Amino acid sequence: MRLRYFSHSAVQLTTADGKIILIDPFLDGNPTSPVKAKDVRADFIILTHGHGDHIGDSFAIADKYDPLFICVNELADYVSSKGYRAHNMHIGGAHNFDFGRVKFTIAHHGSMTPDNTYAGEPSGVIVSADGVNLYHTGDTGLFYDMKLIGEMTRIDYMLLPIGDNFTMGIDDAVKAVELVNPGIAIPIHYNTFPIIAVNPEEFRQKVTHKNTKVKILQFGEEIELK
Ligand code: NI
Ligand code: MN
Repeated sequence: MRLRYFSHSAVQLTTADGKIILIDPFLDGNPTSPVKAKDVRADFIILTHGHGDHIGDSFAIADKYDPLFICVNELADYVSSKGYRAHNMHIGGAHNFDFGRVKFTIAHHGSMTPDNTYAGEPSGVIVSADGVNLYHTGDTGLFYDMKLIGEMTRIDYMLLPIGDNFTMGIDDAVKAVELVNPGIAIPIHYNTFPIIAVNPEEFRQKVTHKNTKVKILQFGEEIELK
């Protein structure tokens, strides 16, 4: 599986057999993304919650490629109400799709859509494909149950916010890494806007957890996951 990080919480996963999964594709309104909505395609779109900086350009992309949305029940119903295909799930549940397995986790945050529709609970997501387990926490504060998430699933890659104000800041993210015990931690949800400007090198320096390496991705960079 390959991972391309667009910036903010937006990532693209490409499986070995060529399936493309987008998570929270906020591109056109995102001043830091070098990639715009017209440049991507999708077979699946996973949304962690209903905020505009996470739904992003999902519907414009879906107009062209008819992906299957995967989200918690209320957000999936919202997506369906807009005329798109959605698979309804909820927190704690996992399901096998043709590209791999998706499991939703808790996240401590909000989830109202830009047009003021209640979109259920915000979530994080564990995507397991090609032998790799990737945990994208979504927008969240620090919570102790992250320990349980790391105990139940060996997390190879953890994508977690460090930008503060709306989510965990650096110090809480460092603790989150200790709790989850991932192989590699990738900071997200920072420097998109001045209010979430931080230095990711500070995060790298503060993570001293012995099992975890920090990988800071350039906006637009693609890496092979293994
Ligand atoms: Ni949010
Ligand atoms: Mn956000």
